Amino acid sequence: MHREYLAMNDLQRALRAIVFWAVLAAAGGALAQPAPAPAPGFFPNSAKGGRLYQEKCASCHGKDLRGTPQGPPQIHVYYVPNHHGDAAYQIAVRNGVRQHHWRFGDMPPVPGLTPEDVGHIIAFVRREQKKAGLDMNAAMRH
Ligand code: HEC
Repeated sequence: MHREYLAMNDLQRALRAIVFWAVLAAAGGALAQPAPAPAPGFFPNSAKGGRLYQEKCASCHGKDLRGTPQGPPQIHVYYVPNHHGDAAYQIAVRNGVRQHHWRFGDMPPVPGLTPEDVGHIIAFVRREQKKAGLDMNAAMRH
C-alpha cells in the first residue's frame, strides 16, 4: 500500500513536470520570436516611409494603397491600428502572411527592410489611412 502510494506520487510528479516543461517550451517558442521593433528613441518619418512603401509594397498593395490584382488595399478598415497594429506590420514584413482575409494568396516575406524602415512605412500608411478618412479608432469587428 505504502509502495503503491509512492509510485502514484512519483507518476504525478513526473506528469506535472512534463506538463510544466511543455507549457514552458510553448511559451518560450512564442517569446523567442517577439515582433521586431524599432530601437528606442526611433522617430518615424512618413516621407521616407512613402519612398520605401513605393519600392517594396506598392507592387501588391497599390501605389495609392488601394490594392492591385496581387494584393489587398491598405486603405481598409481591416488595417487600422486596432485590427492590424504596428506589430502586425513588422511580423508581416519579416515572416510573410498566410492568406486569410482575402483571396490573393500568401504575402511573401519582404527582405531588405530593418524594423526602423518598417516603422517609417507604418507612419506613411497610417498617414494615408487618416487622409482617406478611415476611422482610425474603429474597433475590431472581423
Ligand atoms: C507579393 C505581394 C505583396 C507584397 C510585395 C507585399 N504584400 Fe502585404 N500582403 C499581401 C497579401 C496578398 C496580403 C493579404 C493576406 C490575407 O490576409 O489574405 C497582405 C497582407 C498584408 C498585411 C496584413 C497582415 C496580417 O496579419 O493580416 C500587412 C500589414 C501587409 N501586407 C503589409 C505589407 C507591407 C508593409 C509591405 C511592404 C514592405 C507588403 N505588405 C508587401 C501581398 C503583398
